[in-house]
Amino acid sequence: MRTQVAIIGSGPSGLLLGQLLHLAGIDTIILERRSRDYVLGRIRAGVLEEGTLNLLDRAGVSDRLRKEGLIHTGFDICFSGERHRIDLSKLTNGKKVVVYGQTEITRDLMAAREASSAATVYEALDVEITDFDTKRPRVGYRHDGQTHEIDCDFIAGCDGFHGICRASVPEDAIVTYEKVYPFGWLGLLSETPPVSEELIYVNDERGFALCSMRSPTRTRCYVQCSLSDTIEQWPDDRFWSELKGRLDPETAATLLTGPAIEKSIAPLRSFVAEPMRFGSLLLAGDAAHIVPPTGAKGLNLAASDIHYLSAALIDFYASGNDAELGEYSRRALARIWKAERFSWWMTTLLHQLPEDGDISTKLQQAELEYLFESRAAQTMLAENYVGLPY
Ligand code: APR
Ligand code: PHB
Repeated sequence: MRTQVAIIGSGPSGLLLGQLLHLAGIDTIILERRSRDYVLGRIRAGVLEEGTLNLLDRAGVSDRLRKEGLIHTGFDICFSGERHRIDLSKLTNGKKVVVYGQTEITRDLMAAREASSAATVYEALDVEITDFDTKRPRVGYRHDGQTHEIDCDFIAGCDGFHGICRASVPEDAIVTYEKVYPFGWLGLLSETPPVSEELIYVNDERGFALCSMRSPTRTRCYVQCSLSDTIEQWPDDRFWSELKGRLDPETAATLLTGPAIEKSIAPLRSFVAEPMRFGSLLLAGDAAHIVPPTGAKGLNLAASDIHYLSAALIDFYASGNDAELGEYSRRALARIWKAERFSWWMTTLLHQLPEDGDISTKLQQAELEYLFESRAAQTMLAENYVGLPY
């Protein structure tokens, strides 16, 4: 088999790259280890920056998003029993974010791919990439009990944090930076209306909490938990009463609760691998970097990688030279590090950090008070939250 770009992984990165290349007349095959339904069953964040929205418009997959997505012009931070609004639009010259689940974006991208003639192989097992230090890289895999091989010009490693693409790079060619946070997020999805029209981030003595949503009838909430906690230790009632205990009493009193549709515990990590290009192998999205979820930058960063990568590949096929591809890693990483900084900052600002001692509580209090008093500090938060320019 032969294609121009072999894409490993059908998460948002792989699907979005496939769609933008398809629109530019570039041939791709997507290889995904899991089934389509498994990929659609993963629940992840859902706050989209304007840059991500514009890219999804360009990819022709934003009809439903533009109809059903919820426009948010601000959010609240709750601290010491009081809610403080961060007016994103006022602080950023009218910018906003849109709340629309990553699962729905994946569904829309899959529908667009199915409507095109582009190939996707789900349940592609034992994917192996070779010769990516040459101009004739190859991808091997197993499907339906048979082995297959693809010849291609480029391999796009969009296979997430645990994928094989980054792991296939020789150790001395890659540098990684990592911080693992000593707590997790317990998330619960329920068919209940959100407690507020906007998101509420909570810094409370009992731990961080977040009230988010997927639609006017569907709530997504999180509480900071211990890394050793299990889902069995968190029946729905315990989750809701813990969340109420962390909210201000007025908000807690209006919170409507209901059974969980989904409940999971996620660890928090900051991670970057440099560079993102190794000859004919190009990494994008979670394969190259992870942010802690505070601030919802994961999907938006995957989108900005794909913005740079799709433009570089389209330029290569139009011009025949790889000057733009040579710039991909540097351009993507410049933006990634700023989002890493922001996600780390927001995480550190809002979570309980007992291992850092009492001084961290005092410093956090001072930083939050400064934030609520200072328009300059709020502007820093707002312009990062709505997304730095590409
Ligand atoms: N072979 C084929 N596919 C693989 C392999 C493999 N060896 N390993 C992983 N995959 C697939 C996974 O099953 C998954 O569907 O690659 C896909 C990677 O998708 P994501 O993890 O969603 O990563 P990405 O597309 O970069 O999206 C980033 O997702 O994790 C969130 O917060 C993150 O929102 C961000 C976004
Ligand atoms: C979510 O809705 O899942 C979400 C929203 C905002 C965040 C993180 C997660 O900062």
